[in-house]
Amino acid sequence: MAEIGTDVNKAADLLKKGSLVAIPTETVYGLAANALNKDAVINIFEVKKRPFFDPLIVHLAGIDQIEDYTKHFPAKAQLLARELMPGPLTLLLEKNNKISDLLTAGSPLVAIRIPSHPLCQKLLKKLPFPLAAPSANPFGYISPTTASHVEQQLGEDIPYILNGGPCQVGLESTIVGFEENDLIVYRKGGIAVEEIELIGGNVIVQTHSTSNPNSPGRLESHYAPKTPILIGNILQLSQLQDQKKIGIISFRNDYKEIPAAARITLSPSGDFKEAAQNLFSGMRWLDQQSLDVILTEWVPDEHLGRAINDRLSRAAAKRKIFFQEDPNQ
Ligand code: TXA
Ligand code: MG
Repeated sequence: MAEIGTDVNKAADLLKKGSLVAIPTETVYGLAANALNKDAVINIFEVKKRPFFDPLIVHLAGIDQIEDYTKHFPAKAQLLARELMPGPLTLLLEKNNKISDLLTAGSPLVAIRIPSHPLCQKLLKKLPFPLAAPSANPFGYISPTTASHVEQQLGEDIPYILNGGPCQVGLESTIVGFEENDLIVYRKGGIAVEEIELIGGNVIVQTHSTSNPNSPGRLESHYAPKTPILIGNILQLSQLQDQKKIGIISFRNDYKEIPAAARITLSPSGDFKEAAQNLFSGMRWLDQQSLDVILTEWVPDEHLGRAINDRLSRAAAKRKIFFQEDPNQ
């Protein structure tokens, strides 16, 4: 069983020895190792049961370190970095030879992120190397937003979980790449597309990638609970669920009129930030209630609502049952 604690020195010592440590970030918990130690990085893939074609994000303490690991730092990337880092943003930049092909799955680009979580910052500042870290969940499942989520799934495989409390953002970072003069969003996340547009100009959103294995976070089915999820008009859907044990995860309405076995209302006041914070922990909890089906609905498709809809769509994608048009398409 993993020890859960807040000892940054202990986490740093384990990482220096090549061990894996689960770390808190403002988005989701990460499964971290020394990004420059190949054996440690291989261990991440093995513990997560992640295919080697899926590259890892490299986490740095500050913007001043970005040029240590990249060949170019384009002007637009610098602009976004100055405005939004540290924070829930990941930049795809041309890697230099300090970054192995193992980390990037052979791509010439490396994903760079600077987390703002204070405990994570403290840890990164103590280390003489960057941290490679995917979300600390088995491949394809919902990302963890508390230390105990990590413990439940990976507790047997790692010695230490650095506990930074519940994640404040609750959705993974937004991934942005640069082509010529264009900004491309490859994964909607904790920074709204609108915010990136405001700073960097026109953005192309390219998050749907059903066949491209280079970015499985973009695979149609990902972030998925084991219980089937149906998305649409919750009231109508509930009438079709004869005798079934229903769970509901709704945006602001609690649907008390429906006799559900378990329900989560993401944000009664309709606040996207609160809804994002509650989404993964809500899905995870419902997945543990032995339900036959989880009913959910799209949220308004703007700001963080776009990232929430993206995750709902992928959570339900295995069965491709959308009862209302997917606003992401
Ligand atoms: O918020 C986050 O980004 C969290 C925290 C722990 O930092 N990390 C995270 O990592 O979500 P992960 O591995 O679960 O998702 C990273 C996504 C994957 O879909 C991966 O394919 C993509 O980023 N990615 C990583 N490096 C890439 C690269 N060089 N080119 C294209 N996509 C890349
Ligand atoms: Mg992940």
